[in-house]
Amino acid sequence: MDKINIALLGLGNVGGGVFEILKTNIEEIQERSGCDIQISKILVRNPNKKRCVDVPEELITTNPDDIFNDESIKIVVEVMGGIDPAKEYMIKAMKKKKHVVTANKLVIATTGAELIRTAKEEGVRFCYEASVAGGIPIINGINESLTANKIEEIIGIINGTTNYILTKMYLDNMDFGTALKEAQDKGYAEADPTSDVEGFDAVYKLSILTYLAFGKLVNPDLVYREGISKIDAMDIEYAKEFGYVIKLLAIVKDDNGVLELRVHPTMIPERHPLANVNDSFNAILIKGNAVGELMMYGRGAGDLPTGSAVVADVISIVRNVNDPIFKLSESKSGNLKRIRKMEETTSEYYIRITVKDEPGVLGRISSILGAHNVSLLSVIQKGKRQEYVTLVFVTHKTLEGNINKSIEEINSLSFVDKVENIIRVEKME
Ligand code: NAP
Ligand code: HSE
Repeated sequence: MDKINIALLGLGNVGGGVFEILKTNIEEIQERSGCDIQISKILVRNPNKKRCVDVPEELITTNPDDIFNDESIKIVVEVMGGIDPAKEYMIKAMKKKKHVVTANKLVIATTGAELIRTAKEEGVRFCYEASVAGGIPIINGINESLTANKIEEIIGIINGTTNYILTKMYLDNMDFGTALKEAQDKGYAEADPTSDVEGFDAVYKLSILTYLAFGKLVNPDLVYREGISKIDAMDIEYAKEFGYVIKLLAIVKDDNGVLELRVHPTMIPERHPLANVNDSFNAILIKGNAVGELMMYGRGAGDLPTGSAVVADVISIVRNVNDPIFKLSESKSGNLKRIRKMEETTSEYYIRITVKDEPGVLGRISSILGAHNVSLLSVIQKGKRQEYVTLVFVTHKTLEGNINKSIEEINSLSFVDKVENIIRVEKME
């Protein structure tokens, strides 16, 4: 049996998972790849760190050139994270004619074009199945199994950390900080969890999905983003009262050539399949013009689920090692005209406001909303904090621009203490 040497750049959560899978499933992997895949070098920052996996000392290095200059290494697996030096190392590996596998959505979403170009120029393969939704085979799903379709819409829960936090807040009344700490301890969160909590991670993944499904590389800075840090126990309670669950959704739609892209917390009906995607699980709902609606569900983070996708890419390269088929498709039909401005999008809205408990307050706010064409579905007044009360409005479907104008006026009213939160409500029909 041929032996294929590979190297890992990084031995953290994902690197550890890759190491473990290659060891535990050695027989299946040999049978399916027809090769004996061996890790021959692992780059780390700190060689003295205690690892979760039992790695022979001689494999560990802190010098990346030990990998680039080793001609026996055919595949480099980047599981370090970050842009620098991850991108530089991947390009160096490609220039040394090594195939590259990565789990790094940040680097693909921000510098993917350069990596793709380099891989093509060097005639090596560049695979990134693990970069979106961990163990769910979504990249291959779109690129191969759904390739006959014109994709119309993708709606996904694609960040495991925030889904874990929201689940714990909703089902166990856990506070935000404790839930985040648990997600970090389980290895779901990024090195800097701000990326998860504030929705950046989901934006990177959405950019990659948009590229695959619509052939358009969208700069992540152009994607509307809101994280979950503003979600309060009170919002969760109101959501329950209205029969909704709050999820961080990543949405991309092609509306006759106008692309709508956004990541934000959303109230969705509790009976919708996405509402029942809990803990670190991810799910992606895709609408294709031939296949109709389909949903992929699985673990979106963690060492073994992510390692499963990384090792699958390695095996796929090994199977075609002399046949550089690119998994990356360049811009497709090119019928996309523009990205829709957020104020042109429509939704129903949940608006929570703290106001002074005075006569005429409700009427004044309702009339401002009415003047901006925002019609109300329901209004609740609850709780008294000294002279303050909470008002909650749920609107009918309206333009985001109308909500923005209303909130600007409402904020200027003397009896309004604070517009505490605004959450989009999607009926998902
Ligand atoms: P991690 O636990 O922080 O591990 C990072 C590893 O890279 C560590 O072993 C670290 O070395 C090494 N490293 C970092 N910078 C380095 C440098 N400059 N030189 C040498 N080694 C360096 O990260 P992770 O959670 O495994 O995530 C890795 C990648 O997978 C990220 O791109 C992440 O977005 C992506 N990802 C993660 C998950 C998940 O569930 N965690 C899921 C999907 C994708 P030391 O150990 O010596 O510090
Ligand atoms: N931090 C990411 C998440 C890891 O929580 O989903 C998987 O990409």
